[in-house]
Amino acid sequence: MMLVLLIKKGVYEMSSKDKPHLNLVIIGHVDHGKSTMTGHLLYVCGSISERDIQKFEKEAELIGRGSFKFAWALDKLKEERERGVTIDLAFYKFQTKKYYFTIIDAPGHRDFVKNMITGTSQADAAILVISAGTGEFEAGISATGQTREHALLAKTLGVDQLIVAVNKMDLANYKQERFDEVKDEMARNLKLFGFDMKKVAFVPASGMKGDNLNEKPDTMAWYDGPTILDALDTFEVPPKPVDKPLRLPLQDVYTITGIGTVPVGRVETGVMKPKDDVIFQPTGKKANVMSIEMHHETIPEAIPGDNIGFSCKGLAKKDVRRGDVVGHVAKPPTIIKDFTATVQVIRHPSAIAVGYTPVIHCGTAQVATRFAEIKSKITKGEKTDKPDFLKNGDTAEVVMIPTRDMVAEKYTEFPSLGRFAIRDMGQTVAVGIIKNVTSQ
Ligand code: GTP
Ligand code: MG
Repeated sequence: MMLVLLIKKGVYEMSSKDKPHLNLVIIGHVDHGKSTMTGHLLYVCGSISERDIQKFEKEAELIGRGSFKFAWALDKLKEERERGVTIDLAFYKFQTKKYYFTIIDAPGHRDFVKNMITGTSQADAAILVISAGTGEFEAGISATGQTREHALLAKTLGVDQLIVAVNKMDLANYKQERFDEVKDEMARNLKLFGFDMKKVAFVPASGMKGDNLNEKPDTMAWYDGPTILDALDTFEVPPKPVDKPLRLPLQDVYTITGIGTVPVGRVETGVMKPKDDVIFQPTGKKANVMSIEMHHETIPEAIPGDNIGFSCKGLAKKDVRRGDVVGHVAKPPTIIKDFTATVQVIRHPSAIAVGYTPVIHCGTAQVATRFAEIKSKITKGEKTDKPDFLKNGDTAEVVMIPTRDMVAEKYTEFPSLGRFAIRDMGQTVAVGIIKNVTSQ
């Protein structure tokens, strides 16, 4: 409910029409300081007032969590505040010199990776927050930690633009040696995942103290790179594929008094306007668009990158759900029978064989999908046809069949609906790119 509630409350009150817009997701291991840094960034950019922060500090102190004052602003759910972890996504808006950002604060806890994936699937860029604290960096980067998993998921979900915030530098006495250690280890991993390292900025910071968020601190004289805000302004606006057919994966569906059913999601390709005849796949439900809203303003058209809510004539809440993909009736999203994909196995505890049926995350949908055929695999540069199983590190050509109706597309045509993550036993075991689809 977060997005719509915030829109209604007017958290988005700001004139930002002249600046280009980017969706920014904050990712990283649990407790590495994402909400605190996000809250502090909003504060220095004027999106949260001094008075609000004082109020949050008082509330947080009441339950002995004074250090959570900035995180408090974002972690609105009662359970989140009491446990001190982020569960759901929080959306806020702030502006830098060059852009206005919708900032998505994702949860780090492994139980909530699903929510993190949804947030990341809507992002143009990310800040990966890594704690430099003793033992904290090591826990995040360990096999069961979320630091590398989040970075890899971001890349798989199409987020190529990344800032690495080496956070909690106050706990490392602002030492360059610790920064370099974290940076070198992370750079090695990010390179492996396919990031263009020339474009990844590493910024030492303290989200709690405010070092290096908007001003160069005197605590780290050895650092001569950008602040977090400067680094944000080096991002680029991704191309907007307005000429392609409309594809809008739904993130959620709300019922709003006086308006009716309001599906919410991000436009990936194409353009949506009021009066358009749209279809929700895979259900095939058709409707006519009445109005489109972004950040509580009615807009005449939605283009790629826009996070919107829209209302439709004759649409009931039960007709649509998260994971559905909206397109125009004339060019509907593809419902697949099966697809061929290149799959990269990252972290499976044993081996993957034909018949294995894990949940795949594609767009905003989550569908149990069966490995129907393993055509070939490459292990350490060596190719095998029709192998019996796949292990960590293998890249394979496979055919997969979903256990229920779902939308998927060829990666080359619709990148965001043509890649997926495979999750099982609470972790990401593999990622894939769809080469070809057979439609139903
Ligand atoms: P999840 O959303 O649950 O994954 O956590 P998070 O990454 O949002 O972390 P959060 O901001 O809630 O902070 C976790 C703890 O680290 C809190 O106790 C914070 O006060 C503390 N913390 C955050 N940033 C800093 C920092 O820069 N320095 C120090 N010393 N502590 C910090
Ligand atoms: Mg948090």
